[in-house]
Amino acid sequence: MDKIIIHGGGKLKGEVVISGAKNSALPILFATLLTDEPSVIKNVPCLADIDTTVEFLNFIGKKTVKKGNIVKTYASEKYKHIAPYDLVRKMRASVLIMGPLLARLNKVDVSLPGGCTIGARPIDIHLDAFKRLGAEISVEGGYVKTLSENGLKGAVIDLKFPSVGATENILLSAVLAKGRTTIINAAKEPEIEDLANVLNKMGANIVGAGTSKIFIDGVESLHGFIHEVIPDRIEAATYMIAAAITKGDIVLRNVVPNHLKAVSDKLKKSGLSIKENTTSIRAQWIKNLKAQNIKTEVYPGFPTDVQAQFMALMCLLKGHSKIEETIFENRFMHVAELQRFGANITVDCKIANIIGVEKLSGAPVMVSDLRAGSALVLAGLVAEGETVVSRIYHLDRGYEMLEKKLKKLGADIQRRHES
Ligand code: EPZ
Repeated sequence: MDKIIIHGGGKLKGEVVISGAKNSALPILFATLLTDEPSVIKNVPCLADIDTTVEFLNFIGKKTVKKGNIVKTYASEKYKHIAPYDLVRKMRASVLIMGPLLARLNKVDVSLPGGCTIGARPIDIHLDAFKRLGAEISVEGGYVKTLSENGLKGAVIDLKFPSVGATENILLSAVLAKGRTTIINAAKEPEIEDLANVLNKMGANIVGAGTSKIFIDGVESLHGFIHEVIPDRIEAATYMIAAAITKGDIVLRNVVPNHLKAVSDKLKKSGLSIKENTTSIRAQWIKNLKAQNIKTEVYPGFPTDVQAQFMALMCLLKGHSKIEETIFENRFMHVAELQRFGANITVDCKIANIIGVEKLSGAPVMVSDLRAGSALVLAGLVAEGETVVSRIYHLDRGYEMLEKKLKKLGADIQRRHES
């Protein structure tokens, strides 16, 4: 199991190129199942979750090849309609196989996804939506069996929560349904808009993506596409916080500043200098930062995927900050690990209270989930002494060339291969 070794203390300075967004690339890869024509997806990050999805598509019967940051899909053989546990358990986003296969085959059997360390993460909103589109759902032997013998029929779907995955699954199925589907209380994340742009390139009729009301007029069939994935706003936020926590000065290239507004506003309020151009952001420490309170919300609010990283920063800011996590029921796994660095954090249900400390001391820590992992790396960059981060396979799921990018910015960091 590889480990990352960090010796803290250096200020990070220089430029970093932000990779394509994992959470946009994943649904777009699943969208290729909706056509038998070849497609090309560019700016795809080299990440474990992408490899898992490529493996999944090939298993289902869609020939898919990834070379560097480009994925090509080819004409399909006959699709399997079963998504087995050993593939689904690796990645929660596997649930996105349901929409396309239901639309193409009128049936799909998916192994129950299982929880993960940030909560139970059910799929009830997805299944309720498929029922609204005319599918019958049954659970047998650990599989969710979904069947729509007469094909999917457009419907009005009012989501009880603006679930990102459920909104994506509805888009990935309603595009081939008969008639109009209206999603009310849809997720508004940029990744939803990126997926809708791809589906419209394929010949779909989607209006309103990025707002809470989306209209989809079903079509008979869809064709191949060429698309470049949007930049990863969560990776970008992580590097902005790296500049803040190390009192550094980092220029982020290949970003969409507007996708980061909630994070930029909070960091500006704390005193970080943030200068934006059309595709770049300069995050520069110019004075001691002030502790801030945050409450995670759905987009465009403060993203839950940046909560852990922000907490790492708050550990070192003078004063008291309060962090409220409203999206996931168990997304404070990084607290115990941050306390091992000497952080002063108390948790009461969904609220963490942080009292800033003078310094953090390096320690052996363990990653529990992707974003918690990035918080521990950020703390290690500024902690005195050596930090050894284990279970970094979580990090490899979501951060392309993490050590390489940080080393280029001046961090004393390396990966140690351990058998
Ligand atoms: C997506 O997960 C992202 N993953 C997550 O990023 C992100 O944290 C999340 O959206 C929220 O922004 C991908 O895009 C691959 P949700 P998703 O459905 O779709 C509950 C990362 O670090 N819920 O919006 O699973 C759920 O339990 C990952 O890149 C139901 O109750 O998020 C959670 O509490 C982590 N029933 C909340 O809604 C459902 O049917 C948000 O889930 C679906 C969700």
